[in-house]
Amino acid sequence: MGITLFFLNTCFVVLQVSYFATCSCLSDRQKFPSFFRTIPSDAFQVNAMIQILKHFGWTWAGLIISDNDYGVHAARSFHSDLGPAGGGCLAYTEILPRVYNPAELRRIVDVMRKSTALVVIVFASQNHMLNLMKEVVRQNVTGLQWMASEAWVSVFSLQMPHLMPYLSGTLGIAIRRGEIPGLREFLLQIRPDLHHKNTHGNSMVNQFWEHRFQCRFAPPPAGWVETGGELCTGQEAEENAETEFLDVSNLRLEYNVYKAVYALAYALDDMLQCEPGRGPFSNNTCAHLQTLEPWQVRYQLILNS
Ligand SMILES: *[C@@H]1O[C@H](CO)[C@@H](O)[C@H](O)[C@H]1NC(C)=O
Ligand SMILES: *[C@@H]1O[C@H](CO)[C@@H](O)[C@H](O)[C@H]1NC(C)=O
Repeated sequence: MGITLFFLNTCFVVLQVSYFATCSCLSDRQKFPSFFRTIPSDAFQVNAMIQILKHFGWTWAGLIISDNDYGVHAARSFHSDLGPAGGGCLAYTEILPRVYNPAELRRIVDVMRKSTALVVIVFASQNHMLNLMKEVVRQNVTGLQWMASEAWVSVFSLQMPHLMPYLSGTLGIAIRRGEIPGLREFLLQIRPDLHHKNTHGNSMVNQFWEHRFQCRFAPPPAGWVETGGELCTGQEAEENAETEFLDVSNLRLEYNVYKAVYALAYALDDMLQCEPGRGPFSNNTCAHLQTLEPWQVRYQLILNS
C-alpha cells in the first residue's frame, strides 16, 4: 500500500526496511539503493490477479485505481501484462478521486454499471474504497465480481452487513499470515507503570492496559466515570481479559514488522561477529559498533538477502 516518505542523497544513505510499501516503483535499485522491504512488490500481486482471471476464464475486466503511486504503478503492470498475450483485456481504467468527490464517483460508478465487464479489480486504499462503495450502494450496483488488492481485502469496515449484497464473493490478495513466537506471552506479562502514570499517562503500555481491561487510568477523560466507566487500578483480574490485542492468530502486517526488525537485528549481529582481518570492507576490515555507517549495514543486508 502506501509509501512512506524518505529522503536520500548519494553520500547520506538512509536505510529503510519497509513492512507495507508494495509499489513496484520501489524495486528500482538505482533510484532506491537503500530501500528494502518485507512485503512483496505489487508486480507479484498483479501477476497473481492475472492468474486468477485466467483460471476462471475472465477475459474482460474493469480496473479502478487510486490516484497515487500505488494505483498508477499497478495500472501500468496490468496494462503491460494483461493484453491479448496475457489472456485478457481491460474494459476501462478509472482513477478514484484523491479527496471525496461525489460527482466524480457518480461518473465512475456509471461507467461500471454501463460496462459489459462484470469483473472489477480495485487497487486502492480502504478510504478510497469506502467512498466508492457509498456510490455503489446509492446506485444499487449488484452482480459484480470484485477483485481486491491487499490494501482493502481484509479491512473490517468493508465487511459490514449492508455492503454484503454488493461485495460478497470478493476475491483478493492478502498479506501473508505469519507466527510471531512468544508475542502472546510477551503481551500477557506486560504490566502498567503505576509510578509514572502521570508523566507518561499516554504511554503505550498504559493504553494497552486500558484497552485490555476497558478501564481508564486517572485522570480519566471527561465524562468517563459519569457514564459508568471504570478506573484502572493496575491490579485488574486476568480473567475476562481476552481482547483483539491478545489475538495473535492473524498476524499479517505485524509479521512483516517482525521480519523487518529481525532483518536489521541479524545484519547488526552478523557485523559484530566479523573477525578482524577477514571482514568484508576495504583491507578486509570489519565495521565497528561505535563507528557504524549506514552503508555498511546496507551492505550486510544485501549479503543476507
Ligand atoms: C437492488 O438491486 C437488486 C438486484 O437487482 C434488487 O433485487 C433490489 O431490490 C434493489 N434494491 C433497491 C433498494 O433498489
Ligand atoms: C589498506 O592497507 C594499506 C597497507 O597497510 C594502507 O596503506 C591503506 O591505506 C589501507 N587502505 C584503507 C582504505 O584503509
